[in-house]
Amino acid sequence: MSTETPTLRLGSTAPDFEADTSNGPIKFHDYIGDSWAILFSHPDDFTPVCTTELGAFAKLEPEFSKRNTKLIGLSASSAEKHRAWAVDIEDVTGAKVGFPIIADPERKIAHLYDMIDYQDATNLDDKGVQLTIRSVFIIDPSKKIRLIMAYPASTGRNSAEVIRVLDSLQLGDKNRITTPINWVRGDDVIVHPSVSNEEAKTLFPKFRIIKPYLRMTPLEVSDP
Ligand code: BEZ
Repeated sequence: MSTETPTLRLGSTAPDFEADTSNGPIKFHDYIGDSWAILFSHPDDFTPVCTTELGAFAKLEPEFSKRNTKLIGLSASSAEKHRAWAVDIEDVTGAKVGFPIIADPERKIAHLYDMIDYQDATNLDDKGVQLTIRSVFIIDPSKKIRLIMAYPASTGRNSAEVIRVLDSLQLGDKNRITTPINWVRGDDVIVHPSVSNEEAKTLFPKFRIIKPYLRMTPLEVSDP
């Protein structure tokens, strides 16, 4: 596997890789299968912010499963250490981490996905080598990257935001809509600009025109 960093953009194919994880070896694309996937990195095991994040994602795993989405974490240490850390995570947060955490002590996958920390001089391992940032990739069943988020080591993520974007992407794939600022499942959506008013009358009988370029509509959505 190359340690070259490809330029990953929205729409790029998520690079495939083989790796050891807390649940045993995986081939990434086989792990994703026909599901969506959330790949999210952590700087290191037995660190405070990461412990809260892993616990939160573990508690929310049923919500991701309902959305046909698999979780997979990554941290720059060994699978054995990940398994020991999972005991602590359950102790602290009450949540059992059932999804795999990739073991990436040599940062091979971190380089592949451009997750290395280039800005925080304190985010280093005990040998002085840079750790990873908090990256989030949402990957769809065709293995295309649909969202990239990057947070510094100092800032824990917002798990609700990850679900919110997933809901928006999945709804947008099924309906000709987009979602406005701070939208959450159940709120009105925006009629996609490519839909004419004539088409909208059929597709979204309750749509309303706020401006010619901003048309809102309720959308019936079943529970995920
Ligand atoms: C943390 O998870 O708390 C953390 C990890 C690395 C650097 C800073 C914070």
